[in-house]
Amino acid sequence: MPPAPAQPAPSPSDCVIRLVGLDKVYQSGAENSVHACRTISLEIARGDFVAIMGPSGSGKSTLMNMLGCLDRPTGGEYWLEGEQVAAFDRDRLARVRNQRLGFVFQGFNLLSRTSALENVELPMLYSPHCPSRRALRRRALACLQRVGLGKRALHHPSQLSGGQQQRVAIARALVNEPSFLLADEPTGNLDTRTSLEIMEIFQDLNDKGMTILMVTHEPDIAQYCRRQIVLRDGRIVRDERVSNPLRATEELKRLPRELDFLADEAPSA
Ligand SMILES: Nc1ncnc2c1ncn2[C@@H]1O[C@H](COP(=O)(O)OP(=O)(O)OP(=O)(O)O)[C@@H](O)[C@H]1O
Ligand SMILES: [Mg+2]
Repeated sequence: MPPAPAQPAPSPSDCVIRLVGLDKVYQSGAENSVHACRTISLEIARGDFVAIMGPSGSGKSTLMNMLGCLDRPTGGEYWLEGEQVAAFDRDRLARVRNQRLGFVFQGFNLLSRTSALENVELPMLYSPHCPSRRALRRRALACLQRVGLGKRALHHPSQLSGGQQQRVAIARALVNEPSFLLADEPTGNLDTRTSLEIMEIFQDLNDKGMTILMVTHEPDIAQYCRRQIVLRDGRIVRDERVSNPLRATEELKRLPRELDFLADEAPSA
């Protein structure tokens, strides 16, 4: 089958994230400081799908945590949809996080003593627009079905595989219907097929208009994104568009079939 046509590059004029000289210095003790991000300037257009790459310690998670409003920069500007979020107070940052951003953490960060369904419901419980109990449940279940885990909704994380736990974490990030999805190593420690299934979910979300920023240290996985940014020692050293991103659905069809009996429900498109 011929490869799917390349998606048109998002227009730079529709810039929804703009970083100007963003800096992050971690201060631990009077003498010890780590300059984790150094004057990062960057524009990201709505609908882009960006891989953030670079060696361990290069500042990828630090950058993602600032983009996700989980941590504040120590210098520079962060503009999100035209607003300077670095100046927001805690409550306003929490609202931005809750209403506009979905975050998939490095390591899944699921609550171990609650079911997949309850894990997914959690961000909605803290939302000012929290729906009724019944609507909450319906929406969380729809998100789990979206990532192919409808039948595992009542399982606890310990009863799920790594890939399934990662999909619960993605469902949780989607439940508030964010415009931006930020994912830190979403395929870390996953086998090839499971990684491609995660990329298939991300590409489908991106095709529907979601802006996605994803940290990965795997060049193979970055081939599914539309743009690749490489950090080294807290600075951007490369920023390139991918001319013809791979399509995960097509690549999944090419994988050997012998392990298919292990695969569970396919994610619903
Ligand atoms: N809370 C913190 N306090 C002090 N230093 C920190 C803190 N978090 C990260 N660092 C340091 O900042 C630098 C960048 O760390 P970061 O976690 O952003 O790297 P990374 O690129 O995500 O690495 P990895 O690929 O291993 O996840 C590292 O030198 C790290 O030790
Ligand atoms: Mg990291």
